[in-house]
Amino acid sequence: VSNSKLAEEWSFPEGVTYLNHGSFGPPPRCVREARREFQRRLDAQPMDFFLRQFPREWIATRKRLAAFVGADADDLIMVDNATVGMNIVAASVELRPGDEVLCNNHEYGAVLRIWERACRRSGAKLVVPELPFPFRSPEELADKLLQGINRRTRLLVFSHVTSPTAVVFPAERLCRAARQAGVAVCIDGPHAVAMRPLDLKSLDCDFYTASCHKWLSAPFGSGFLYVHPRWQAAIQPAIVSWGRVAEGEESSWRNEFQWLGTRDPSAWLSVTAAINFLEQGGLEDFRRGTHELARYAREQVTRLTGLEPPVPDDDAWYGSMATLPLPPGEAEPLQRDLWQKHGIEAPIIDWSRQRWIRVSCHLYNREADVDRLVAALRNLL
Ligand SMILES: Cc1ncc(COP(=O)(O)O)c(C=O)c1O
Repeated sequence: VSNSKLAEEWSFPEGVTYLNHGSFGPPPRCVREARREFQRRLDAQPMDFFLRQFPREWIATRKRLAAFVGADADDLIMVDNATVGMNIVAASVELRPGDEVLCNNHEYGAVLRIWERACRRSGAKLVVPELPFPFRSPEELADKLLQGINRRTRLLVFSHVTSPTAVVFPAERLCRAARQAGVAVCIDGPHAVAMRPLDLKSLDCDFYTASCHKWLSAPFGSGFLYVHPRWQAAIQPAIVSWGRVAEGEESSWRNEFQWLGTRDPSAWLSVTAAINFLEQGGLEDFRRGTHELARYAREQVTRLTGLEPPVPDDDAWYGSMATLPLPPGEAEPLQRDLWQKHGIEAPIIDWSRQRWIRVSCHLYNREADVDRLVAALRNLL
């Protein structure tokens, strides 16, 4: 099946140009149907579903997802989203007064808040260095970030693909260096799932937390947390319930995460359908095609504004979305006008004393969407 054929699995309301798959990626029709089918089975016979079907499906989903991200299924649990995963990590890494957690200024606001609270409660310190931007080389980025490590640093937290700036961080290099320094690494990865090839085993990070409802286009409310075996004994659940052992599973750290009280697990279980869907058209082709369109957006917006993009034109630096600088002005009214006057959904971001636009490109986006965006920006700026 070609990727242009797969694009027909999405339909938006008339007049909507959706260029924000990176924030909220709507699932394609077949994934919605897969979810509805799980809900139908759950509602039809809850006893059978919760007691007999769900444990089996939970294990199968974890196996499929683990293979997709290059992890062992024993090291991965389903969570609602990256935020939940990050909160579990923050509740599990024991910090002492004087310890430091190293982030940086490209991190997601909610993630900074999670670590601010964890540090405040334990007397530790959150360190958020400003990295030199635009980025010129991965060496420079890594060197600057790693300068923040000292003997008090307990954990390095960084995004695999950053939210405000859409930059791919050199994850392998950072993990290697942190390991050499004896510092644990937690990667915030929601934008990387499907957008980048993942091999968590060889990455050898300590934690990797992600949402599957972005680039993978699984239902909203699906994500995962990967925990390296060296940390599994320390993991604390955010929600305590029965700690039930799934039939067919050994007792393990995962027990606490299968049953979180009675809830609808259909989003988690439909992750398999989302992986199957994207793999039909070929992941390489998906990545190449969406990157080419992000590159086109970058060229067109740059031509309009005359402002240089913040990273070199290379798919090592950005994948299916690009963040580009805009002339000075307020972010919020521009985003509102894009939507109200032109039907265009794209985030306008105030970040580091500059106004930016982030353009996300998925299978259903075309050059015509970007052209409409650029025409609207020409009009509004
Ligand atoms: C880098 C990054 N981390 C974390 C999150 C939080 O994801 P979620 O809202 O799915 O928990 C986002 C969401 O946009 C993100 O971009």
